[in-house]
Amino acid sequence: MAARLVTGANGCIGAWVVRRLLAAGDDVTALDHGDERHRLEAVLDEDARSRIRFIKADVTDAAAIHRHVGEHGGDGVIHLAGLQVPTCRADPMLGARVNVLGTLAVFEAASAAGCRVVYASSAAVYGPDETPTRPHLESEAGDAKTHYGIFKLANEGNARIYHQDHGVGSVGLRPLTVYGVGRDFGMTSGPTTALKSAILERPYTIGFRGPTDFQLAEDVAEIFVRSLDAPDGAHVCNLHGETATVEDVVAAIDDVVPERLRGLVDCDGPTLPIPGALDDGLLESLIGPPPRTSLRDGLRRTYEAFARLHELGRLDLRDLPEEVGS
Ligand SMILES: NC(=O)c1ccc[n+]([C@@H]2O[C@H](COP(=O)([O-])OP(=O)(O)OC[C@H]3O[C@@H](n4cnc5c(N)ncnc54)[C@H](O)[C@@H]3O)[C@@H](O)[C@H]2O)c1
Repeated sequence: MAARLVTGANGCIGAWVVRRLLAAGDDVTALDHGDERHRLEAVLDEDARSRIRFIKADVTDAAAIHRHVGEHGGDGVIHLAGLQVPTCRADPMLGARVNVLGTLAVFEAASAAGCRVVYASSAAVYGPDETPTRPHLESEAGDAKTHYGIFKLANEGNARIYHQDHGVGSVGLRPLTVYGVGRDFGMTSGPTTALKSAILERPYTIGFRGPTDFQLAEDVAEIFVRSLDAPDGAHVCNLHGETATVEDVVAAIDDVVPERLRGLVDCDGPTLPIPGALDDGLLESLIGPPPRTSLRDGLRRTYEAFARLHELGRLDLRDLPEEVGS
């Protein structure tokens, strides 16, 4: 039984990573500074949740992270804790403390414990491009347009130095538009929230347009877990799911929902300052062919999961805007 520690385990990708590790029979420690377990509750039943060791800790508390990684992270740490684009934009100092110093704390602890780290970077390390649907290589990043993207670039650089100076093996993964059960916050969460809104028969406008690379949270989790077994190095890899425009997703949502729920979702707003197609050849060379669920199947599975949760009265609604008049 491998001992794995997941930071940011209460988050969207975290919940799916924990689920995947438990399915493999691993000893799983879920570390998060928050108490919100709604995403874990949405993707795991009570029996599975009872097998998780929960630890409440802040990744900026280097002494606590050192202790917990030493005790429970022996076979690898998956580091997902972080603040997203809107929070880093509103408070860059806090963003740097959590996203950069918190990541350094994880690498310090991994160096002392002699374990490897798979960490969340982001496609926000890229800047806009005139040919957004051309598959982009890892080396084309650097012109990030947000503090968040700059913090992720710093983490990729620090990971390289930890390997050079201390031999800490790592894989940094760069998701783009992650969607699926549990995705309820961040710059690109709108397509998932739109599915929930449709179930409630409420109109919803996704707040961005244009092409992006859609990646199902369950696939992303699988990639994080398999990256624990990548060859030694300090790798940084893109992820690729399916490139489509948000306008395509609006049409696809109408295809997967029942007829009476059609026409409720649209999109408006800017295009993302990030290319919409990422080349994941490097990832494939490290872990073999990654899962790439088609957008239509991913949307259908997410819709069906939300519909089941709704029937059970357990659909989490905190990401939906207040209803007019309520
Ligand atoms: N979701 C995406 O589309 C996407 C895309 C690219 C990169 N990422 C990165 O992947 C990682 C996970 O993303 P997600 O969608 O699951 O995010 P999320 O916001 O759902 O989850 C992040 C988790 O980190 C925890 N956290 C925040 N600050 C913490 C701290 N100081 N100490 C301990 N825990 C803390 C939060 O409580 C939360 O449970 C993040 O690093 C994010 O930047 C996500």
